[in-house]
Amino acid sequence: MCGIVGAISKNRNVLPILITGLKNLEYRGYDSSGVAYLKNNKINIVKTSGKIINLENKLNKSDESNIGIAHTRWATHGKANSINAHPHRVNHITLVHNGIIENYEELKEMLIDNNYSFKSSTDTEVATALLDYYYEKFNDIDKAISEFMKKVIGSYAITMIVDNDLDSLYVLKKESPLVIGISDNANVVASDIRAVLKYTNKYYILDDFEYAKVSSNEVIIKDIKGDILKKELHAINVEDNDISKNEYKHYMLKEIMEQKSTILKTVKPYIEKGIDSLLILPDLTKYKEISIIGCGTAYHAGLVAKYLFEEVTNTRCNVYLASEYRYQNSFLSKDTLTIFISQSGETADTISSLKLVKSKNCPTLGIINVENSTISLLVDKCLYTKAGVEIAVASTKAYTAQVALLSILALSHGLRNKTIKEDDVLKVIEEFNNIEKLITTLLNNKDMYLTIAKKLYKEEDIFYIGRGLDYYLSMEGALKLKEISYIHSESYAAGELKHGTISLIKKNTPVLASATNNKLNAKTISNLKEVMARGASVYLITNTNYKDNTFTIVNIPKSSDFLKALLVIIPYQLIAYYTALLKGTDIDKPKNLAKSVTVE
Ligand code: M6R
Repeated sequence: MCGIVGAISKNRNVLPILITGLKNLEYRGYDSSGVAYLKNNKINIVKTSGKIINLENKLNKSDESNIGIAHTRWATHGKANSINAHPHRVNHITLVHNGIIENYEELKEMLIDNNYSFKSSTDTEVATALLDYYYEKFNDIDKAISEFMKKVIGSYAITMIVDNDLDSLYVLKKESPLVIGISDNANVVASDIRAVLKYTNKYYILDDFEYAKVSSNEVIIKDIKGDILKKELHAINVEDNDISKNEYKHYMLKEIMEQKSTILKTVKPYIEKGIDSLLILPDLTKYKEISIIGCGTAYHAGLVAKYLFEEVTNTRCNVYLASEYRYQNSFLSKDTLTIFISQSGETADTISSLKLVKSKNCPTLGIINVENSTISLLVDKCLYTKAGVEIAVASTKAYTAQVALLSILALSHGLRNKTIKEDDVLKVIEEFNNIEKLITTLLNNKDMYLTIAKKLYKEEDIFYIGRGLDYYLSMEGALKLKEISYIHSESYAAGELKHGTISLIKKNTPVLASATNNKLNAKTISNLKEVMARGASVYLITNTNYKDNTFTIVNIPKSSDFLKALLVIIPYQLIAYYTALLKGTDIDKPKNLAKSVTVE
């Protein structure tokens, strides 16, 4: 969603740092952008709606500055126009903000009563005025920040310039990520260190209710009381965070292709020494049941884990959407391990659900892709997926890395609770060791996916069906297609069709299914015949030898339960990709979507 970059230097022009940083954050989703910097001892603000190129075109090419802040905005309060774009300026304070100020209406009334007026419809302008109000009141920026933090309800990562202290940036944080990168040339602030990796890989992480004064040669971090804190300096591996697109037309295709190595990279530490390394994973036998929480694709990865925990290891497992879980009766118990799945580690609903579980002192485990992200730091134990940076909004390699790690976790649990024999465990390890070959074969089947995509891309409604694990995979298949192609696609449990959905089937309606479970395949195939009898065009992904000239069949290799999800999803991902390609949509940055959903 929104992105923040700020930079300060003694002798370097920071405008290129700000613009490059914003471009690196573009993939997260935005609809306007802006920058503020010191020019002739005054704050100059340039803002625009649309792409960053519009902002660059509006900037005076000869301008240089040693201090500045910049922002990409994903509209929440108010339209995506240049008035609502950040930075906002009220009297002495100029700032950019990620997050949502929940009590902004009440604060706005108070500020209007105190003679403040507002140009935009944003909560951010209210935050700017509130900081100015306290700054005027106390004539002390530390006190102003502390009062602001006490008064505001909601989430914020704020970077600001204060008129009477033009040699510093001030940064404040609550529930929205913010890091401070350190380098010899310039100190840089960002909502994601990867935005400024070209300049530094060393950074401080701010925790909630902390703020910092960042000057060109010093960073002072304080808590809400104004006490100075000593923080750990982190370093990120530059190679693992490569964000180049190489020869690929889209990041999404590059990331789909990378799955031939990312799956194995993720599970390798837990299989390289056979059974012994599996036992490095946390022992889940001490828990009566498992809960899994995530959003979107991460939720779908959780469903695959539910299948393995319940059907293979005989352990009860419930999966919840984080946005629902946080507001429902969660029946928390110390006997339940709650697993949080997130690529970014910054998804607002997942973080809130995690805080809820932690507030009851119940055990938590994270399956996270981004190191040192909020969730990874909050959970009791974090297992990292090794997907590398995922830029495309549609998650692909992060999903398969999550599924692979959860599958290995279920395998290790099955070994411990003796629901899987040692010989069978070794066979699954062997399969994972060969996964690169299996995935490569599937990735190379481009002609088949393109043929199917040609049949789909002009359609308006597409249905995905399946039973058991295949139902869970149909959910992810349908999500992939709808988010990047904008075609309405829905997933249904195949057995549910007759209870309503089948009325939507008409001549040529595409119905996609996967069938990988011997006990259920015949039933799914019957359901496909039923929709065909009503005119549907049918596409089947299967690991059986099923032959039927009236179906389009995508064959995938046979495998144990632990690999099925990984093998079915590759065709689904590529069918979605080629369908969107034929439609000509903005595949990496689909409209209205953001990579990391940092607001509720
Ligand atoms: O960063 P997270 O894994 O927590 O993100 C969760 C969802 O927002 C994400 O998976 C979303 O559904 C993807 N766009 C799906 O491709």
